Amino acid sequence: MYAQMVQSEATQDDPEKLAAFQARIDAGEKIEPKDWMPEGYRKTLIRQIGQHAHSEIVGQLPEGNWITRAPTLERKAILLAKVQDEAGHGLYLYCAAETMGVSRDELTEMLLDGRMKYSSIFNYPTLNWADIGAVGWLVDGAAIMNQVPLQRTSFGPYSRAMIRICKEESFHARQGFDAIRKMAEGTPAQKKMAQDAVNRLWFPALMMFGPSDKDSVHSAQSMAWKIKINTNDELRQKFVDQTVPQIEFLGLDLPDPTIKWNEERGHYDYSDPDWSEFFEVIKGNGPCNVDRLAARNKAWDDGAWVRDGLLAHAKKKAARQHAAE
Ligand code: 3HC
Repeated sequence: MYAQMVQSEATQDDPEKLAAFQARIDAGEKIEPKDWMPEGYRKTLIRQIGQHAHSEIVGQLPEGNWITRAPTLERKAILLAKVQDEAGHGLYLYCAAETMGVSRDELTEMLLDGRMKYSSIFNYPTLNWADIGAVGWLVDGAAIMNQVPLQRTSFGPYSRAMIRICKEESFHARQGFDAIRKMAEGTPAQKKMAQDAVNRLWFPALMMFGPSDKDSVHSAQSMAWKIKINTNDELRQKFVDQTVPQIEFLGLDLPDPTIKWNEERGHYDYSDPDWSEFFEVIKGNGPCNVDRLAARNKAWDDGAWVRDGLLAHAKKKAARQHAAE
């Protein structure tokens, strides 16, 4: 049932109810789980929040890989805290999705068998320590660019989850910038590693915002419902405008030779990522898709005994309470 729910927002709702719902959205009211909502609104939110939650969880893998190899105790403690935060973000978001009647188990199963997506960025490898700095700075930086406006999204539980998540994500981006700055100011070999990380992760970071506006399937309806506040291209441009001066501050070369300030537009011009690569990655053909899903499937299978034990305990407790009444 939920497999169908996450696929399309096309629904046939009562036109009068739809108009009243749209008027609430237009007036800036928050929609709460027990309020009437069009089926398409519910489906879109389950798809987007579920995908967002999965991204937080899968996103632990490339960074978790470096916890044991962090260069200092301080960096290790920071990275450990960051990766734990991402798990927490996943849990807030699964809770927000659950308010719409889908369970965390159902969402997880759809991730594990490929029916639901997670952010394309986590299908790229983290090859060395400079990548960890670049991920914190660029990936969490891109995530924040998207998530700050989502604090004003129309669905109450999602917007409230985003407020807390954004506070933590900004710490994540700062620690990433600090780590890459240290590399950029280090030995020539360290600076080269920092440059290489930025070169490799720049275009995948731009892909995080989704396809260009002309190819975005959901943006128009999602923006009318204020599920999304900005288009994919608007956010991508904001990210480029914010990040280019940071790259220059670090003394690194720009990863895209076409980046140039455009006085007339008041923005940087830049090149689009290779969209054919993006579509391949989200189809499951990126460099790490197979490994990421294998790791999540293994964690799910290995954790079965914990879930079974907790469920058995809960059932036993309920039966004892029932008998005592
Ligand atoms: N990765 C994977 N799939 C993507 C994608 C990406 N970067 N960008 C778009 N897609 C998919 C969409 O899900 C959609 O496929 P579907 O119909 O099968 O779901 C298709 O490409 C077309 O894209 P649209 O632009 O029409 O889709 P959306 O309107 O959903 O926009 C989005 C995509 C901008 C990513 C939007 O869903 C969104 O804002 N999501 C919430 C934010 C989020 O998910 N962030 C994850 C970032 S990582 C993170 O937060 C972890 C942190 O620790 C760094």
